Amino acid sequence: MIRKYRLGTPFPTESVIKNIEAESGAIPYLKISEGDPVSFSYELAKEDIVYGLGENVRGINKRGWLYRSKNSDEPNHSEEKNSLYAAHNFVIISGKETFGLFIDYAGILTFDVGYTHLDELKITPSDNNLDLYFIEGDSLPDIVKQFRGLIGRSYIPPKWAFGLSQSRWSYYTADEVREVARRYRENHLPIDSICLDIDYMERYKDFTVDPEAFPDLPKLASDLKEMGIKLVPIIDAGVKIEDGYDVYEEGVKNNYFCKREDGSNFVAGVWPGRVHFPDFLQPEARKWFGHKYKVLIDQGVEGFWNDMNEPAIFYSEEHLKEVFEEIDRLKTQEIDIDAFHHFKALVADINNNDDDYKRFYHNVNGEMVRHDKIHNLYGYNMTRAAGESFEELYPDKRVLIYSRSSCIGMHRYAGIWCGDNNSWWSHILVNLKMQASLNMVGILFCGSDIGGFQKDTTEDLSLRWHALGAFTPLMRNHASYGTRMQEAYQFDNIDMFRRVIGVRYALMPYIYSEFMKAALNDGMYAQPLSFVYPEDSFARGVEDQLMIGESIMIAPVYTQNADGRYVYLPERMKLYKFKGIDQITSEILEKGHHYITVDLDEVILFVRPGHMVPYCEGGECLDTQDESQLRLLEFVETEPASYLLYHDDGLSRDYANPKNYTTIILSPDGKKSTSDNSITLL
Ligand code: GLC
Repeated sequence: MIRKYRLGTPFPTESVIKNIEAESGAIPYLKISEGDPVSFSYELAKEDIVYGLGENVRGINKRGWLYRSKNSDEPNHSEEKNSLYAAHNFVIISGKETFGLFIDYAGILTFDVGYTHLDELKITPSDNNLDLYFIEGDSLPDIVKQFRGLIGRSYIPPKWAFGLSQSRWSYYTADEVREVARRYRENHLPIDSICLDIDYMERYKDFTVDPEAFPDLPKLASDLKEMGIKLVPIIDAGVKIEDGYDVYEEGVKNNYFCKREDGSNFVAGVWPGRVHFPDFLQPEARKWFGHKYKVLIDQGVEGFWNDMNEPAIFYSEEHLKEVFEEIDRLKTQEIDIDAFHHFKALVADINNNDDDYKRFYHNVNGEMVRHDKIHNLYGYNMTRAAGESFEELYPDKRVLIYSRSSCIGMHRYAGIWCGDNNSWWSHILVNLKMQASLNMVGILFCGSDIGGFQKDTTEDLSLRWHALGAFTPLMRNHASYGTRMQEAYQFDNIDMFRRVIGVRYALMPYIYSEFMKAALNDGMYAQPLSFVYPEDSFARGVEDQLMIGESIMIAPVYTQNADGRYVYLPERMKLYKFKGIDQITSEILEKGHHYITVDLDEVILFVRPGHMVPYCEGGECLDTQDESQLRLLEFVETEPASYLLYHDDGLSRDYANPKNYTTIILSPDGKKSTSDNSITLL
C-alpha cells in the first residue's frame, strides 16, 4: 500500500508515473520538527536496517553516515564523501517496523542515518515543498516492487550492451580504436563495444567528430560492426560557445540555454572552455538536443554515454573574474597563514562551487526557476532528452544510453555507470554494494569502471574485478588518461582474462533472462541476501555477497593476495567453479560459513536448491553467439524444478510477445524438457 503526503507546493519532478491523491491526516512513522526547513525524524531500533539511497558510498545498510542528495561531480569515492552523482531519495527501514519512504523532491536533501545520533534517522530538505510516499508491503522485495510500480518501468538496453565494453579516456584516433578491436579479436577476448571518450569530438563540441583524428567515422563504425563491435561515444552537457557551431547557434536563437537572472545566457567553463548549458527542463530544448544524437546514429553509432551532467562546472565566468581580482589584490599583501589558505582555496575550490549553481535559471512554463532549487533534475532531463528522442525516432529499436548523473525518473530512459572510481581493492566492494542499492531505485542497467578509472591498476585487481563484472549488467573496463593501460590484452596472462570474460558470455542466457524479468516485473536483478532470507540474522548483515536473479548467489574475491574468501551460505547450495567454460566443477555445501578457494582466473557462483541456470558455450560477440543450445547448472535434488527463460531478438521492444518465454523443466533424475523447440537442452 502506498500513501502520499504533500507539504507546500512541490516542483513537479516527474519522478513518478502514478497520480496518487495526497492524504490529509498526520504523516505516519516520522516525527516532524516544524521550521523552515522542516525535518523528519525516525527513531531507529538496534536491529533496524536502512536500505536504499541508490548511488552512494558506504554500505548496503546505510546506517552510520550522512548522505546528501546533491548531484556532484565527485572524483573521489572515499568513505567521507556525502554525495556522488545522483539523488535517489528512497529508503526502506526494516526492523521493528518495516516501510519504504520516497521523498519526491528536486532540491538538496540530507539523510542523516544515525550520523549525528546513532539511533536517529533525520531527513532535512532545503525548503518545505515536497511529496512523501510511504510504502508498506509483505516483504522487502514487495516494497521495492510497489515503489517501482510508482516510478515506472526500468530502462532496457539492447542485448549487445550486456557484452564487454572497452573504454579509455581516450582512444585518440580511429587507428587506436581499430587497434583495440583488433587486439581483442586476435586474442579471442570477447567484446561487443568500444567507447569513445571526449577526444573523438572536434575540440570537445557535442555531436561533432574530429576530422583529423577520426576522418571517416561511418567507415570505422561499419568496419567494427563487421567485427561484431559497436561504437559508443560520449556526449557532454555543456555546449561550446563558438560562432558557426550549429548546436551553439540554434540554442542561442531559440532560447534553449540556461539564463542568468538578467536574461543573458549563463556561461560556465567545462572541457571546451566556455559553454552554455542546455535548459533540459524545457520540453522543446529536450526535443532539440535529443534529436542531435541522430547525427551520430546516422554515422553508424549505436549507443551513448552522457557525462558531466550534474552539471559539472569548472568555473562560471563571474566566479573566474572574482578569483582573478582576488589574486590581484593578494599580490600586494603579506601572505600569512590565513591569507595563504585563502589563496590556495581560491583556485582549489573553484569547480562545482555552490554559488555557481545559484547563478543560473531554467525556464519552466515561462517561470524562471533558479537552478539550485531543481539541481538534481538536470542529469535526468539531459538523458531523458536522448531517451525521448530515441523512442520517437526509433520506436522499434532499443538504443544504448547510460548517464553519469541521475535521479529517480531517469531510470525509465537510461542506465548509469558509477563514475570515477579508483583502481583500489576497496572499490570492488563499493561496486558490489551499489548494485543492490541501485536496483532498489529502478536502475538495473548499471556497472562501475572495471579495473578502476583513476590510478594504476594491477593484473590481479583487474582479474578479480572482471569476475564481479561478469555479473553486472553493464560490464565496462574504463580508465583515465595517465594511468596504466588496462585492456585485457595488456597483461601477461591474457588467457586468464579470456576465461573470466568467457564465463560472462556463457552465462548470458541466464543474465539476460533475469535482467529482463526484473525490468518487466519491477523486480530486482541484484539483491542483498536479506531480501531473500529475511529471517536469517546473519544473512541480514552480509555486505559482500549478492543474490543475482532467482537462482544464484555470488561472492567475489576483493582482497589482494587472497587465495579465496569466506562465504556465508544461508541455505544448502551448490557451488560451481568455472575456470573458463571448459573446466566447471561443482560441490554441494551445507548452510553456514565456508572458506572457498578461488584462483585468479576462476569465477564462482552458488545455485540455490530447486533452481537452475541455463548457460551456453559462449562466444566472442553477443550478436552471433549461439544461445539455442543450452546446458544447465542446477541444484535439483528431490522435486522437479522449472525455470522461466526470457529470450528475444535483443533489439526490438516487443517485450510482451509470448514467444519470448520458454519454460525449462528438470527432474531430479536429470530428465529435461523445454516448452519451445527452438531451444535445445544438451
Ligand atoms: C569524467 C567521466 C569519465 C570520463 C572523463 C572524460 O570524468 O566520469 O568517465 O572519462 O570525464 O570524458
